[in-house]
Amino acid sequence: MTTKKILVTGGAGYIGSHTCVALLQAGYEVLVLDNFSNSKAESLRRVETISGKKVPLVQADVRDREALRDVFRQHSIAGVIHFAGLKAVGESVAEPLKYYDNNVSGSVALAQVMAEFGVQVLVFSSSATVYGDPAQLPIREDFPLSATNPYGGSKLMVEQIYGDLAASDATWQIALLRYFNPVGAHSSGTIGEDPNGLPNNLMPFVSQVAVGRREFLNVWGDDYATIDGTGVRDYIHVMDLAEGHVRALAWLQNQSGAHVFNLGTGRGFSVLEMVKAFELASNKPVPYRISPRRPGDVAAVYADASKAERELGWKAVRDINAMCQDAWHWQKQNPVGYPD
Ligand code: NAD
Ligand code: WQD
Repeated sequence: MTTKKILVTGGAGYIGSHTCVALLQAGYEVLVLDNFSNSKAESLRRVETISGKKVPLVQADVRDREALRDVFRQHSIAGVIHFAGLKAVGESVAEPLKYYDNNVSGSVALAQVMAEFGVQVLVFSSSATVYGDPAQLPIREDFPLSATNPYGGSKLMVEQIYGDLAASDATWQIALLRYFNPVGAHSSGTIGEDPNGLPNNLMPFVSQVAVGRREFLNVWGDDYATIDGTGVRDYIHVMDLAEGHVRALAWLQNQSGAHVFNLGTGRGFSVLEMVKAFELASNKPVPYRISPRRPGDVAAVYADASKAERELGWKAVRDINAMCQDAWHWQKQNPVGYPD
């Protein structure tokens, strides 16, 4: 790479902002493109404070090809990390076109404009959701894929599109990263996950109960075939995930084609184990009630994360205590998230 400037689409969001910190720490320059449909520019100001470096920002939609062209014309971009997307599973069922347009059309527009400018290093945010209800655990990258909702469908389609693209032209260098369940926050507690309204995901909900914003947690089902009957997931610290992107980007320099990696810890924890760990880390009670299963949920999901370790030389190192402590640190310092 002659330049080390990385375009980060969706860089103001939860995983994007943490990845900007990791990129800047690793000596890259970043340029963020975000339409703020699910984030605030304040996250990037805080990334600047953490890193002591500038985070230039373009407010635009990734589907806007002209805006993308301006970015590539004005900057010498070495590679792209593409986070920009919508991620609420329930909303995707109610508004599938919104999800296919934003996530699939946005990913196509981005790759087209990258091709026009000869920038072909691309890291894409995929998800463990592409494994559907896995027949076996831990989940390896070569397991069968399926979508159980339009959000998952959009991720599968983009994987397919980027795979076809790499197969058509060997000068593409693409990493498709399948995240398991990202949680936690930067250890400064100044950036973190800031969901709009009622959180869909477990850990932000638990944090909001601990900080007193919500009365209790609904535990969706205690009759799964798991250690205590509650759902088991592979929670991964968002800074480990962020560092995984930096590793993938460096690794891509000597590769061609599209390559899939699970980014998880390889360990599963139940809902009740996470609640207990959070109570310990925060020293706050997290009252909960057992409620019926959430439609579409599966009993257990955790990664075989050995391919990323073997090939990228990356491994998650932060444990659930660190995940809970850092999530709590962020929540306590920012009880209502980023200011408007
Ligand atoms: P997030 O909503 O915090 O971040 C996404 C960012 O993209 C936001 O800043 C949003 O404003 C921006 N964005 C959305 N659509 C855009 C568009 N059309 N143009 C420009 N910007 C746009 O979500 P996150 O948790 O940081 O997730 C980042 C990516 O990782 C997403 O693609 C998501 O699907 C994927 N992912 C997330 C998880 C998770 O549990 N958080 C798990 C697996 C995969
Ligand atoms: C985890 C566990 C719930 C909330 C989702 C998406 C997936 C990916 C990550 C983007 C499950 C239980 C949850 C609550 C609960 N996103 N739970 N009470 O469902 O594994 O994955 O986010 O790609 O695509 O589907 O994560 O955090 O919602 O749930 O008991 O209030 O916590 O039943 O067992 P999930 P989650």
